[in-house]
Amino acid sequence: MTQDAATVATAAMDRATFAQALRVTLDEQLTLDHPIFKELFTPERNWLLLKIISLEGYQITKFFLEYIETLHYRCPLSAHKRRLLFNMFEEETGRFSKTKNHVELMEDFIRAQGISDEERDVWTPSDATLELIHYRLDNCHGEKTYHIGAAAVMIASEGQSLETRAGDARHTILANCYGLTEQDTLFFSVHQKEDVAHVAEGISLVADVCDTFEMQQEAIHAVRHTCKLFWNMYESAAQKYYSLRDAGEPAAALA
Ligand SMILES: [Fe+2]
Repeated sequence: MTQDAATVATAAMDRATFAQALRVTLDEQLTLDHPIFKELFTPERNWLLLKIISLEGYQITKFFLEYIETLHYRCPLSAHKRRLLFNMFEEETGRFSKTKNHVELMEDFIRAQGISDEERDVWTPSDATLELIHYRLDNCHGEKTYHIGAAAVMIASEGQSLETRAGDARHTILANCYGLTEQDTLFFSVHQKEDVAHVAEGISLVADVCDTFEMQQEAIHAVRHTCKLFWNMYESAAQKYYSLRDAGEPAAALA
């Protein structure tokens, strides 16, 4: 390879092309395509499955503030640092959305299913859920992995709320299928609204901090990999559901 060819092969993409590549990568990995959602969103309410998915989801919700706090604390660019502060403030207080702390919103959703706080707190997360948590924590905290943590959290994770099925957002489908109220599903509606801006900000942040070809490739990989870890979390929830159902646990306890 000539030196010119080597330079071309490793040249960083321009900012707009890279931003577009991040967006396309996110859009390619829709976790609502997982077959377990067909089982969840059926006219026969499947409370057991909803409980498993909610309690696994709760494990990751509890860590979200730490990711944002870390990305804010370590952010090298002042404009992005300020935006992360707003994001963090909303997570902690719910002030912008006129709701409340986002972990508390998730707790409301879990209580609306008739699950006690005790049952919620003794739930053991699956290995797949723990892997998703630790991948993001490690990269947000890692010395040379800020861009990977930012891509994993601000693009792939915030991007999970944007998905719709046949034009309806997840909270609308949940409310319709399970007879839950707008209040019960505020966690999802708040995120669906806010996360459009958060993903755009995530793409902008990652595009600004990645100044080499290698960093760009690592960030794109982080988006793809994080979505894959979300997929694995749903897969493990599905496996847990099938084994509990086959062991005789009633699937429609509250229906
Ligand atoms: Fe949140």
